[in-house]
Amino acid sequence: MRKVIERTRVVPNLHLLRVEAPDVVRKLEPGNFVIIKIDEVGERIPLTAADWDEETGIVSMVFMTVGASTHRLAQLQGGDEIEACVGPLGNSMEIDRYGTVVVAMGCYGIGAVFPVARAMKKAGNRVIGLMEARSENLLYWQDKYRECTDRLVLTTYGGSCDREGRVADVLESLIRDGEHIDRVVALGCTFMMMKTSETTRPHEIKTIVSLNPIMIDGTGMCGVCRCRVGGETKFACVDGPDFDGHEVDWEELTSRRRSYLVEEVRSLSEFETRTY
Ligand SMILES: Cc1cc2nc3c(=O)[nH]c(=O)nc-3n(C[C@H](O)[C@H](O)[C@H](O)COP(=O)(O)OP(=O)(O)OC[C@H]3O[C@@H](n4cnc5c(N)ncnc54)[C@H](O)[C@@H]3O)c2cc1C
Ligand code: FES
Repeated sequence: MRKVIERTRVVPNLHLLRVEAPDVVRKLEPGNFVIIKIDEVGERIPLTAADWDEETGIVSMVFMTVGASTHRLAQLQGGDEIEACVGPLGNSMEIDRYGTVVVAMGCYGIGAVFPVARAMKKAGNRVIGLMEARSENLLYWQDKYRECTDRLVLTTYGGSCDREGRVADVLESLIRDGEHIDRVVALGCTFMMMKTSETTRPHEIKTIVSLNPIMIDGTGMCGVCRCRVGGETKFACVDGPDFDGHEVDWEELTSRRRSYLVEEVRSLSEFETRTY
């Protein structure tokens, strides 16, 4: 069993979960994920490590409430125990001194990509953070990002802050304005990562995305996280989760992510009926 230290709402629909897992924390690197299981019969929930503290052995995750399992997760309180927090899983993100690195993020990706932004800055890169949300009140961790970026641009779909539109639109305008970009890392919903990759493709800017297909074991055994990258079949859990966004078959990924949508909607509505 693992002890939950904290579970708080960061912004509507997004929560911070801090779990005591010193053995996991000892080996965590930027880009790794963990699998959380609430209880013996609970679903396995892959979540990216958003931060960790080696002294206390606490790992932090930011998660979005989408279906039954994440809604259950959002009911946890500090002091509760969960069945499992297993990791680190997946390969760590390639960190090097590339020059100027754009970190494009949205929804849970704002939390999830934070260790990458911090490590890119530490490696000597000039880091530009592009943060998107539907509205300004859904942007979070701006202070944390101001510490590890040279420039942070906030964009909302309605244009209530620095810019209007998605991170892909901002990226396009940065490129058009002559900003030299050596690498882009994008983390957020599938659509955002796809649009970001489409934006950089004609400019041949290497773009790394962190894929989030449905997973079960997270160790390459079940094949559920199968995706097509560069015409080859890859298992996101052991070959990724980071891949070249220009090589990803986005259509297949989107369609596979919807495989159990009917069951997921039913499961969420059963959960809501049971709870309220
Ligand atoms: C490597 C990896 C890392 C990840 N890291 C993170 C992370 O850091 N933070 C995070 O939040 N997530 C992360 N995810 C995604 C996360 O694992 C899933 O969101 C989670 O497992 C969903 O579980 P669930 O049971 O709550 O939702 P599910 O029941 O599995 O539902 C998921 C899907 O169904 C759709 N859905 C569910 N109910 C409805 C409804 N009523 N109407 C319409 N659509 C509906 C949702 O849009 C979603 O696409 C990661 C995934 C992977 C593979
Ligand atoms: S989750 Fe089972 S093979 Fe990747």
